[in-house]
Amino acid sequence: MTSTFDLTHLDRFAGTSTSIRRPREFAHFSYDDTHALKPLSAESLSYYYPPVFGAPGVEEHRPELSAGFKTFRQRDDSIDEHLDGLLDTLQAYEEALLVKVEGGEDEVEVANVRVKADVVTWRGMMTKILTVAFDDFSDFEMNATCFQAQSFIEEHQAYKAAQRRSQNSQQPRRGEASQEMMQYWGYKFECISTLQAPWADTTRADIENRETLIVSNNPQYCSMVRTGIGATSLILAGEVDCVLGEKPERPDQPIPWIELKTSAEPGNLSNLRETVKYERKLLRYWAQSFLLGVPKIMVGYRTPDGFLTRIAEFETQRIPAQVKRGAHTWDGNLCINLTAAFLEFLTQTVVGDGVWRIRRWKNWRMIEVFKTEEVVMENILKQSFRIHREKL
Ligand code: A3P
Ligand code: MG
Ligand code: MG
Repeated sequence: MTSTFDLTHLDRFAGTSTSIRRPREFAHFSYDDTHALKPLSAESLSYYYPPVFGAPGVEEHRPELSAGFKTFRQRDDSIDEHLDGLLDTLQAYEEALLVKVEGGEDEVEVANVRVKADVVTWRGMMTKILTVAFDDFSDFEMNATCFQAQSFIEEHQAYKAAQRRSQNSQQPRRGEASQEMMQYWGYKFECISTLQAPWADTTRADIENRETLIVSNNPQYCSMVRTGIGATSLILAGEVDCVLGEKPERPDQPIPWIELKTSAEPGNLSNLRETVKYERKLLRYWAQSFLLGVPKIMVGYRTPDGFLTRIAEFETQRIPAQVKRGAHTWDGNLCINLTAAFLEFLTQTVVGDGVWRIRRWKNWRMIEVFKTEEVVMENILKQSFRIHREKL
């Protein structure tokens, strides 16, 4: 049986937004330079420091984002990682808490060691839901399963792999760089905009040498947050690019994260077509950052051939109002209300044993959810996590 979530009559989601709980990081993890997972480690945390464009009296210098493309150390993204990094970290976090509780160091009861949330997933999955109403071209497939009254949602890797292949096989238009090259520009921009240690522990050479470093997308720092959208509580994990200054000492303080993006210079914004394109981009930026509570986005604008021209700063929270004053091609409150309704629909549908597919193809005005037999729960939830959880 297929259940559908209707994406027509969007008016029913209009109005002020439902309650949202500010995302709070409660755990984090890193992937190191070989992409090995380090639960609860901050070793791949990066620190924002703007790229160097030249100094007074020095000839203008535009960093070349293509430089070093041949030596790019690119991780193998064909491997299906399911929810593994997230689950291993959740387990490590709960085990550490359990040790404290049993040692009398924490007043939490053993029954409350398990992190409570209705939905556990990657931030990327929620970005797709948050933007679905205003992105007719977005298509996705996810798998979901229910365990201990929590819904776990992963990306359906086979679908994503096919999507990537078709994206990468598109011939670039004349004068346009290849998909691979444009992807590299994104990582190169991260490399020249960050430091691997806080500024105080950095030398001038560390800052100046960034353009000559080998670019690798293996190291990643991922933040795990507790948040809530409407009636649904969530645990989300996702990569954050860097922090401004340092992470605050107190765990309840908001973290000044920065999301980095590269983009071609927007076209003429008095032209409606260009504005629609520009606002579509802002929708993706906003949704991605909003979900983890990333307050700032630094966009590195570039020439068509990949030379960085300038940096523009966006405040995540202000983006919906900016779009409202523009062509108003999307509405942030509507996105949030729709997501709240979808999450309720999903948690009511994914109940009992089994695995469900969540599917939305291009131009569909609905999201389908149906049970599949092909995938077994064991794939979504690794055995070590289930054994750990059964002890709690
Ligand atoms: P840009 O966003 O500057 O293009 P993120 O912005 O999410 O931190 O991702 C960093 C970079 O990863 C992106 O840089 C882009 O190069 C690449 N990337 C992210 N998502 C992608 C996708 N769906 N397809 C292809 N490349 C992607
Ligand atoms: Mg990133
Ligand atoms: Mg980024």
